Amino acid sequence: MSPSIQDTETPAIETRIDASSVDYRDNQKYHQELLDDLHAKIKIVHAGGSERAVALHKKRGKITVRDRIELLLDEGEEFLEFSALAANGMYDDAVPSAGIVTGLGVVSGRRCIIVANDATVKGGTYYPETIKKHLRAQEIAMENHLPCLYLVDSGGVFLPKQAEVFPDKEHFGRFFYNQAQMSGRGIPQIAVVMGMCTAGGAYVPAMADECIIVRGTGTIYLGGPPLVKAATGEECNADDLGGADMHSRISGVTDHLVDNDEDAIALCRQIVENLNIGRFEKNENVEAPLYDPLELYGVVNRDLRRPGDVREVIARIVDGSRFHEFKRNYGTTLVTGFSKLGGRTIGIVGNSGILLPESALKGAHFVELCSQRQTPILFLQNITGFMVGTQVEQAGIIKHGAKMVQAVSTASVPKITVIVGSSNGAGNYAMCGRSYGGRFLFTWPNARVSVMGGEQAASVLTIVKAAQLARKGETLSEEDAEKIAGPVREQYESEGHPYYGTARIWDDGILEPAKTREALIRCFDAACQAPEGPRKTPVFRM
Ligand code: COA
Repeated sequence: MSPSIQDTETPAIETRIDASSVDYRDNQKYHQELLDDLHAKIKIVHAGGSERAVALHKKRGKITVRDRIELLLDEGEEFLEFSALAANGMYDDAVPSAGIVTGLGVVSGRRCIIVANDATVKGGTYYPETIKKHLRAQEIAMENHLPCLYLVDSGGVFLPKQAEVFPDKEHFGRFFYNQAQMSGRGIPQIAVVMGMCTAGGAYVPAMADECIIVRGTGTIYLGGPPLVKAATGEECNADDLGGADMHSRISGVTDHLVDNDEDAIALCRQIVENLNIGRFEKNENVEAPLYDPLELYGVVNRDLRRPGDVREVIARIVDGSRFHEFKRNYGTTLVTGFSKLGGRTIGIVGNSGILLPESALKGAHFVELCSQRQTPILFLQNITGFMVGTQVEQAGIIKHGAKMVQAVSTASVPKITVIVGSSNGAGNYAMCGRSYGGRFLFTWPNARVSVMGGEQAASVLTIVKAAQLARKGETLSEEDAEKIAGPVREQYESEGHPYYGTARIWDDGILEPAKTREALIRCFDAACQAPEGPRKTPVFRM
């Protein structure tokens, strides 16, 4: 039934959730367990490297990486950390957060991207995931036109993994290429050398627009004393070779010399203050959602096979829970419409079931509409895929799906995706998965991401095996079928888990559902202040 229209104010979504039901309580219990696990993992990585390494770091007069960031940020401004669980479950968990902390924060009134090495984790050296995280932070800075602040304290490449971090296009060298590109586009690049900055790493301050170095702990050189001795026979000490005084008075590699981390951070804040770019203005006059975001834990089904009504999720994210729905009665497995988030108009595309030809068409239309109106888009992804079968193939589901994928790929507005449930197959593509140029992508702890569900993958592989054997006149026993299916199910469960993906930086981090609204407001704020590129319309297959 359509709501009666009394005035021009967008109506709030009416919830159909029964908060006293057993289902609601079971969902809450499930999500609470996931949150407890997430908090425990975050607590571990926030401690940084080993106790011994942290103690040594402090003994050297240095501040730990997250405390440096806290000092750098404006008071009361929360840091939106990216991929805190990078490298989780890898390398025997010896590289917490991949040895680098990146994120979005407000410094001297400007939204900035911060890239800070954690020297307590293997000397802040770069593993493959460290590289990926550093590059992703730069990509976010580039796309959203945000100044980059690099807090440098790193031994450079993790040498045993040189083949995975040094030679390829998206490896170490790309940091400096990105710095040059961003500087060229007027995106400020500021480096603060607070520790070792060796070999290739020396180019981070060298290529910055402006850089600071800390006396006593900051060093920059292409090769340390042992390497110089080995290469040329010259005996030298570290201070003469690349100390803070030398670089500030003789080589001119650095622009500012300070005595300690606190001064370096204060000076960095001054530099940002004088960047001559617009200040970020907080919109204080914003309507809270009508329904408490904490209710998401009762609302979001613990069983991903029951996707639920995405309007119930939207109602707990957007201002006043208000939603101006577009094409409500058509292609009903996809929900589209406009809301305000932090006072800003956004388009929302959310799944309430499998994608069908009509829902794909509706999605393409709506994304085009947003693009035309320069309205940024939020994708709430919970999709097991597109429908399969003769009927939908004959209805042209592929060409309709392609139109949605084309519209999403070419939309010239900021797109942000939150994976709130399943993310499988081409549904991942049409709903702005990682490959689709979204400005940010986050995952909820209950999500699962894989090409298809584990059960389906197990069935496909057993059917393929059975067909192979049948061609030879043999049959696949139930026992042998299970020997194929069991490990596939296990593999999909493990690889589809959000911690597996976030460890490999397939997302920008795991978001707590109840904190999604706040994170999205900051991300849309950051995204919408960047200039947009020209729009290109693809050829739609009609
Ligand atoms: N590759 C691999 N591992 C490295 C490394 C590198 N480039 N630099 C340091 N490590 C490891 C150390 O082996 C040590 O591992 P462990 O904890 O398992 O024993 C850990 O990182 C910490 O190193 P340590 O020297 O004990 O710490 P530190 O704080 O005193 O010094 C550095 C850190 C980075 C300043 C120092 O280790 C160093 O100078 N490394 C060489 C840097 C270099 O020449 N890099 C070339 C890159 S192109």
